[in-house]
Amino acid sequence: MATSFALSPHSTLARFLRWGTAALRLLPAETAHDVGMWLLERQMMNRLPLPLPSITGLIEGMSAHLPGIGDLAHPIGLAAGFDKNARAPRGFAEMGLSFLEIGTITPRPQAGNPKPRLFRLDDQAGLINRMGFNSDGAERVAERLRRLHWQHEPVPMGINLGKNKDTDASAAIEDYSFGIETFAPYAKYFVINVSSPNTEGLRGLANEQFLRELAFRHRADLHRIWVKLDPDMPRRAFQSLVSALSDAGFQGLLLSNTHRVDLPEKGGMSGHPLAAQATACLEWAHEVLGDRLPIIASGGILSGQDVFQRIARGASAVQIYTSLVYRGPLTVLWMLQELRAEMDLRGYRFLSDVKGSYYKDA
Ligand SMILES: Cc1cc2nc3c(=O)[nH]c(=O)nc-3n(C[C@H](O)[C@H](O)[C@H](O)COP(=O)(O)O)c2cc1C
Repeated sequence: MATSFALSPHSTLARFLRWGTAALRLLPAETAHDVGMWLLERQMMNRLPLPLPSITGLIEGMSAHLPGIGDLAHPIGLAAGFDKNARAPRGFAEMGLSFLEIGTITPRPQAGNPKPRLFRLDDQAGLINRMGFNSDGAERVAERLRRLHWQHEPVPMGINLGKNKDTDASAAIEDYSFGIETFAPYAKYFVINVSSPNTEGLRGLANEQFLRELAFRHRADLHRIWVKLDPDMPRRAFQSLVSALSDAGFQGLLLSNTHRVDLPEKGGMSGHPLAAQATACLEWAHEVLGDRLPIIASGGILSGQDVFQRIARGASAVQIYTSLVYRGPLTVLWMLQELRAEMDLRGYRFLSDVKGSYYKDA
């Protein structure tokens, strides 16, 4: 039985890593992130004092497919923003994530907003960030990727693109084009980020005219270009935009980015408080698109049950960020165990049968 692969939360390894994650959370949020990245760059999962359980048996029947990206061992990938500059892709792959998204990368280097700019909401399993696209810039990241020789097999890597803070909206298309051209040799897929709340004017680019122009300009690459939208659009505007993106020929959608908030801090809210809104976006998109465009779900996916619910609502795969902060380096393993339990409970052997089942049962 698949559940025989379960790692007990009471095992020494689990306790050790839980302790480490709790210790990191004693630090200010961005310092903790920097320490985590430092460890991941050094591929710390390979250096643990105890062997990691294999996920091979656990993921039987859980493979997923993303058009233009390929087959995935399971549906849980890394969301943008954790590794903005491609510093630790190998470390993330060792954590068991099935695909990785690097970025957001801006054409020129920029520092982002002043610190503090990342805040934990511990009691809600949430985060608020106003990082503001701190980026090493396209040139340095491309050089890092050139040296990395990433194979995209078995873990495909996408590049999430943004515009510089001081690029005027009228010239924004040039920033995205520059990103697509610079990263063409390294990206399995691209994500056009027009949804982060922390760069003034960025969300204004989530309009039909801008995105159609971008699609036309890069029509030869459209099979690998996805668009990431925010969860704060009114339903009708959102639905008309996703229809237009489908007509324009984009490969797929990422739903969704963070929810814009002013309190208790200004920025983008992620984690549990985002879950309901991000799920609604998925349902709204399905209402107008059916299966016309593949969707990667993101936003408050903290457990295997959450993964099940998003796949049931039509997502082809999911991405996580905040759950890694709260659940630590074994997050993927825990979530896969929970997903397996949820599938067993509901009588599903294959994740492909779960996809869209929410609408069929309705
Ligand atoms: C600190 C932080 C930085 C982020 N940076 C980016 C980014 O650069 N580009 C992007 O598209 N999304 C970014 N995101 C959004 C995540 O990719 C993800 O869509 C969002 O956090 C919802 O997923 P979650 O609830 O699993 O965290 C960031 C999120 C956080 C918490």
